[in-house]
Amino acid sequence: MTSSSIRFLMCSPDHYDVDYVINPWMEGNIHKSSRDRAAEQWQGLFQILKERAVVDLVKPERGVPDMVFTANAGLVLGDDVVLSRFYHKERQGEEPFFKQWFLEQGYTVHELPKDLPFEGAGDALLDREGRWLWAGYGFRSELDSHPYLAKWLDIEVLSLRLMDDRFYHLDTCFCPLTGGYLLYYPPAFDSYSNRLIEMRVPEAKRIAVSEADAVKFACNAVNVNHTVILNKATDDLKHRLAAAGFEVVETPLTEFLKAGGAAKCLTLRVTEPVRAEVHASAAIESRVVRMEGHLLDAGLINQALDLVVEGGGSFQVLNFNLGEQRQSTSSAEVKVTAPSHDVMETIVSQLIDLGAVARPQEVCDTNLETVTLAGVAPDDFYVTTIYPTEVRVKCEWVKVRNQRMDAAIVVHDTPTGITAECKLLRDLQVGEQVIVGIEGIRTIRKTESREHRNTQEFSFMGAGVSSERRVELVVEQIAWELRQIRDRGGKVVVTAGPVVIHTGGGEHLAKLIRDGYVQALLGGNAIAVHDIEQSMMGTSLGVDMKRGVSVRGGHRHHLKVINTIRRCGTIADAVHQGVLTNGIFYECVQHHVPFSLAGSIRDDGPLPDTQMDLLKAQADYSRLIQGADLILMLSSMLHSIGVGNMTPAGVKMVCVDINPAVVTKLSDRGSVESVGVVTDVGLFLSLMVQQLEKLTSPYHLAQMV
Ligand code: ARG
Repeated sequence: MTSSSIRFLMCSPDHYDVDYVINPWMEGNIHKSSRDRAAEQWQGLFQILKERAVVDLVKPERGVPDMVFTANAGLVLGDDVVLSRFYHKERQGEEPFFKQWFLEQGYTVHELPKDLPFEGAGDALLDREGRWLWAGYGFRSELDSHPYLAKWLDIEVLSLRLMDDRFYHLDTCFCPLTGGYLLYYPPAFDSYSNRLIEMRVPEAKRIAVSEADAVKFACNAVNVNHTVILNKATDDLKHRLAAAGFEVVETPLTEFLKAGGAAKCLTLRVTEPVRAEVHASAAIESRVVRMEGHLLDAGLINQALDLVVEGGGSFQVLNFNLGEQRQSTSSAEVKVTAPSHDVMETIVSQLIDLGAVARPQEVCDTNLETVTLAGVAPDDFYVTTIYPTEVRVKCEWVKVRNQRMDAAIVVHDTPTGITAECKLLRDLQVGEQVIVGIEGIRTIRKTESREHRNTQEFSFMGAGVSSERRVELVVEQIAWELRQIRDRGGKVVVTAGPVVIHTGGGEHLAKLIRDGYVQALLGGNAIAVHDIEQSMMGTSLGVDMKRGVSVRGGHRHHLKVINTIRRCGTIADAVHQGVLTNGIFYECVQHHVPFSLAGSIRDDGPLPDTQMDLLKAQADYSRLIQGADLILMLSSMLHSIGVGNMTPAGVKMVCVDINPAVVTKLSDRGSVESVGVVTDVGLFLSLMVQQLEKLTSPYHLAQMV
């Protein structure tokens, strides 16, 4: 192509000024630019460009100071132009002037629906070989505009997500160059977009700029054949561009930087050749999800919309029916758009966790795929959560059984009806039908209405480390619950780590077991070893528990203890033989409280009761958890996380740990069913025992009547 056939549109800066703030560059710069210097700098660019191409001019208009940035007029390809729809009302006044210019020049003007922002060539850049269109979103242009570009311009659109508000338009950080080269600033994009760029542009053609160049708008360059015109570039960048065969022409545009623009922004290329062999395609996907519940009170709608945006998608709320009474629920339909199928699946599966349903009406059956290799699910299998889940089979919602986290859902068509159940990967059998994709799946979230939330919320995380008084308060409440559960014959499961013993909580936990407050105990080798060491030798890991000092040779105590139990056979045998006479495990044996000890790589011994086959240990745990009303997690992160994964929502969890991070991790089940207490577990148990005593004391009984 000869230079003379290349045309640009510019607009003289007669009315240019920084009048408002719509990007970070404009902050602090209101009326700070000099119109004379701006005019001079603009002339500089204009002359350079005129030597290399034809420059058309559009008449500057009063009241629209940013009209100099003609890149934002629209996007041209061949005889078609997609007119911009500005995101900010401050610039919307430019639209009719640009529209008129395009019409006068004989372009076919395409206009996007109202409220669908797209800022023209500022956010959409053609590959210089004409193979595809790079389109930005995240700040000014909406992802939903991209399919229109693909349709109207009949070209493949590659969507790139902008992450850094200093680089709010694609052309501020991205510039395709002749010969398939690309000048760009990678940190301005999310990782998915970077991957997409790397897939399309070979490494040898990617010219990544430093932040120093990026903030001088080096990527906001005008490329005419082998010339790159820009505000400023470091020597390093100039060398690299030269090595790729480009001549760099610098021209100061500092007055325009104050408005967040430079060379490229001040121009619009209006001759973009159409390649006959390229055609429309956009990987962009949209789907409608429906949500229902206390969307506002429980903050679900915000969470959902945040999640869409954080996940790299965009949304449009199609309708929102606000529940009018306090107790009534709201419903909403949200159209989610994602730049690719993968991103869509990730976003929607997270939305499902929040209780959203994808295409509820149309889906009669979830997608099923057959297991072809035992213990391996089909690629796209739906990963379960702790929330009660239902799946669509033969136009009916079927409740999934054995709900747990991180499983696959297997659907059986039995003579007595359809069933669905959670199955661990390792348990999948050849021929089984597993749910894949995200359609026709819903999770039932108990979303709390306003009052429910206020009365139930007594988690300690907000306050960081809980104060003593607050620990007392929460202990009172849990003690009361433990009493209720015991009295109605319910089930409390305890997971405990050895810290229970080190902090002096052993005797208190033993008492809880003795008094019937614990129906199953889960732990590892360590808690049992330390408990037994403490009851047989008075030490825990060799430290005298009464005096708090190390006992000479005490570090061998725990091995002696393990050896003793091994000689007896099992812990229960040791109790029956009179060798073990007190402590947590003694009480378990005496009161027929089942326990399971899961082994680990660093276990000494281990005790004969420790299950070193972890799959068996997991199965034991999950059996003992069945039917639990409350799980008390005492300073054992690993065992507690394991338990958390196996436990469906609805089971109350109380997690006690001195480390706030552990408490947060474990109690973050997105519901009020879990309570975190950041405190010393020994102290917690001793307060708990005291509180339970109080509940039975005559004084307390008198108070209750
Ligand atoms: N002040 C203008 C805005 O924020 C600057 C536009 C720069 N143009 C561009 N294509 N990046 O909209």
